[in-house]
Amino acid sequence: MTLHQPENNEHAERTRAERLARRFTELYGHAPDGVWCAPGRVNLIGEHTDYNDGLVLPFAIDRAAMVAMRLKSASDPAVGIADLASTYAPDGGDFSHAAFTVAELAPGSVDGWGAYPAGVAYVLSGLGGVVVPGFELLLDSSVPTGAGLSSSHAVEVATIVALNDLLGLGLNHPDLARLTQRAENEFVGAPTGIMDQSASLMGRAGGALFLDCRTLESEVVPLPLAEHGLSVLVIDTKVAHSHAHGGYAARRASCERAATTLGVTSLRDLPTADAAAPAPFLDALDQETARRVRHVLTENRQVLETVERLRDGDLSGVGKLMTASHVSLRDDYEVSCPELDLAVDAALNAGALGARMTGGGFGGSAIALIDATQLDQVREAVLRTFADHGLQTPDIFTVLPADGARRISLGS
Ligand code: GLA
Repeated sequence: MTLHQPENNEHAERTRAERLARRFTELYGHAPDGVWCAPGRVNLIGEHTDYNDGLVLPFAIDRAAMVAMRLKSASDPAVGIADLASTYAPDGGDFSHAAFTVAELAPGSVDGWGAYPAGVAYVLSGLGGVVVPGFELLLDSSVPTGAGLSSSHAVEVATIVALNDLLGLGLNHPDLARLTQRAENEFVGAPTGIMDQSASLMGRAGGALFLDCRTLESEVVPLPLAEHGLSVLVIDTKVAHSHAHGGYAARRASCERAATTLGVTSLRDLPTADAAAPAPFLDALDQETARRVRHVLTENRQVLETVERLRDGDLSGVGKLMTASHVSLRDDYEVSCPELDLAVDAALNAGALGARMTGGGFGGSAIALIDATQLDQVREAVLRTFADHGLQTPDIFTVLPADGARRISLGS
């Protein structure tokens, strides 16, 4: 059982960054200008609310993408070209490579993992007065891909903070979040909201990020897991999820249509759902759309309640709200899947205080809030349940709330 990821420790993080810088030097023949890192995230609660201008409560995790970067100068051959390499290589062998000419970037012109740095270069180049030269980049990441923990956003955020520093753009966190969202929406073609980038940029060790996705006003709410003897367990079901098409886009479109029908700019403008009294305006919608809207309203309310529980130190109350969120995502929003439901039920049956799918759904990961002494018990129970159902063995590990994106100072 992995209790802590190494990069939670400053020394281990610097060692990793120095190793990346050395590999960069071997690969490109000169040292990078610097190394930056950006974490993945889990969402404690507030799912499918971000693109409805709503409320979310994610935290940055102690698994991060790291990029070593060097800007090309006029004397470099091929100054306009970005050369990328990643340690995400087949068979763990060599690097995987990508390249593009910054001035020729257009949506769809780069695919694979190179689309994430390319999308960032594309949106920055579109800002008035900003010229993005070619650059060399080496990526290494400890955020598992395809697990719904925002591995791609971590790459985008690491790239944008590196370019922001090196080009002296002076963009603040909300600016950087909105730009990376545009990279994802306009260049990569995934219609995602703004939660993941924001968590990666603004997360803080020891806390969850209470974010208003309309204004991008945020507050770090302490999440004192160790003080309460608790852990957050991630259960990666290994079921592939994709946000670029299908269910995610359909849910988003359905919310937008509902807002139009109800005469509001976004679902955020509707009164927050009262648990006891169903909102009468839902009668104007067909039954399926009404369920979708009810989820969004309930979820916004449950984010506010979770923040209150955290302020009161009532972590078992937080667990109950997490489970209620899963039920709403499963039954009203219909973005769960049998494997996620199984992971949640198995964790709850084994004693978790609360459990829910995290992220966009349709696969990916569930999280469970558990007593740290029950780690092995919950883990074994989930593994046994998956084996009994003949399912792929899930990956199970703990995560801690970590600091958001930053430059890593290398030793001299
Ligand atoms: C994905 C998206 C986010 C958000 C969640 C659902 O993670 O990237 O913007 O919409 O799904 O809450």
